[in-house]
Amino acid sequence: PEPGWTRDTDIVVIGSGIAGLVTALRCRDHGRVLLVTKALLDEGSTRWAQGGIAAALAPDDSPDEHLADTLVAGVGICSEDAVRTLVTEGPDAVRRLIALGTEFDRTADGELDLTREGGHHRLRIAHAGGDASGAEISRALLAALKDADVQVIEHALVIDLLKDENGRAAGVTLHVMGEGQPGGVGAVRARVVVLATGGLGQVFSATTNPGVSTGDGVALALRAGAEVADLEFVQFHPTVLWLGDGARGQQPLISEAVRGEGAYVIDHDGERFMVGRHELAELAPRDVVAKGIMNRMLETGESCMFLDGRHLGERTWERRFPTIMAACRHHGIDPVTEPIPIVPAAHYASGGVRTDLYGRTSVPGLYACGEVACTGVHGANRLASNSLLEGLVFAGRIAEAIPGDLAVAGPSSAVVPQATPVGGLLDPALRTEIQHIMTSQVSVLRSAEGLAAADQALSALGSVSVAPGVEAWEVTNLHTVASAIVAAARRREETRGSHWREDFPERDDARWRGHLVGRMADGTY
Ligand code: SIN
Repeated sequence: PEPGWTRDTDIVVIGSGIAGLVTALRCRDHGRVLLVTKALLDEGSTRWAQGGIAAALAPDDSPDEHLADTLVAGVGICSEDAVRTLVTEGPDAVRRLIALGTEFDRTADGELDLTREGGHHRLRIAHAGGDASGAEISRALLAALKDADVQVIEHALVIDLLKDENGRAAGVTLHVMGEGQPGGVGAVRARVVVLATGGLGQVFSATTNPGVSTGDGVALALRAGAEVADLEFVQFHPTVLWLGDGARGQQPLISEAVRGEGAYVIDHDGERFMVGRHELAELAPRDVVAKGIMNRMLETGESCMFLDGRHLGERTWERRFPTIMAACRHHGIDPVTEPIPIVPAAHYASGGVRTDLYGRTSVPGLYACGEVACTGVHGANRLASNSLLEGLVFAGRIAEAIPGDLAVAGPSSAVVPQATPVGGLLDPALRTEIQHIMTSQVSVLRSAEGLAAADQALSALGSVSVAPGVEAWEVTNLHTVASAIVAAARRREETRGSHWREDFPERDDARWRGHLVGRMADGTY
């Protein structure tokens, strides 16, 4: 559709999690900043983050050790320079977050109360409110935003990138629904565009991600011809509260920090089956624990396993995990007196829109930050609590790069709206179908046969065309992203990190020790 209204700005930031908020705050002296977000400002994934933010802040820790743990978790394909940037700049970035007003939990003597999670060999995770770390970070950043000269549009789904005649990013189209906002489809003309749209967990039936995580940024980037990488690496969180077979939508997360504080993973006979499978047992990297749990479920024919934290005691549960305890009790489970039924569920896209160390994508003037981006820090499997850190560190670097870009961008030139996706928009009713295809064929266990079936089933959905609307855009984005994940997963014929091929069960460094980079041509990935 043609835009019904236009706005002009210098920098448009799409998304209001840690990546978008920090980018907007750090760019406010560089020009006019407009922040757009799909729902309310605090509705993205950041506020759901439980465990915390990882950084080498303890006296006995170092960026080198954080680097080593991140590289091991990423199973040989992290971009080492990106990881080095992350872990070296991480501690100061967290200190700046504290200076801005974020209140992390402290020990009795006032030091940061750091904890462990899977794959970390040191106490390295700063947390807040026990298990409400993301909510506290979001609160502090939104408070800072109130005092900053940043324009905001809420309830605005980003549709497509606008480009100028030289192929530079020159703004975006939006579909806006909120009261008191410009309504319908409009265009924002900008000199620089920053995607910070978060994840794509809603591609699957059951996920820890909120309903807004429909891969809009990756879909936009694909339609704009930008490069994406590592899309096959969708991480499954090992411990999500099991709500029965067929549970759908956002599921309650049971943070890795519960294992970090000493909880065990057990089967129906009470056996700690992760012991002996990895030197870190329950605190092995996330892909190892998720696979251990899936394997045990397959071996025993059971629908779930259990997380046993009874020995932590009620006081620890109350102090460290009030949110999780309340969620469990809400669903009739008391973690103080009984093991928690758990299953793995889709959690995090380790890949995304490919960037350099300053968040620049392959399209000039288009940046990506946070979960939507692929800086290369996560490789085949993200290390726990590195995600908030990635958003924080790389948002700062994007803010450093943008002035140089603004200098060459000139004033925002006239923009031409892109066409709607090739093949039109999909019927919103297809959301469940796409999720079912992905969950049954493309989740923790993958094979050539299942992936081919998924590809065929997704292609068969691609021809329905309906009137434009937010739900139709979301489903179309889910379809675009799902198809790209399937294509990448078909190509990678090995098992590595969170990509687990039953037909290629071994890691194959000779053929596959690298990133799969792709982009969309003629409407297909
Ligand atoms: C968790 O609290 O287990 C999630 C942490 C993360 O995804 O890094």
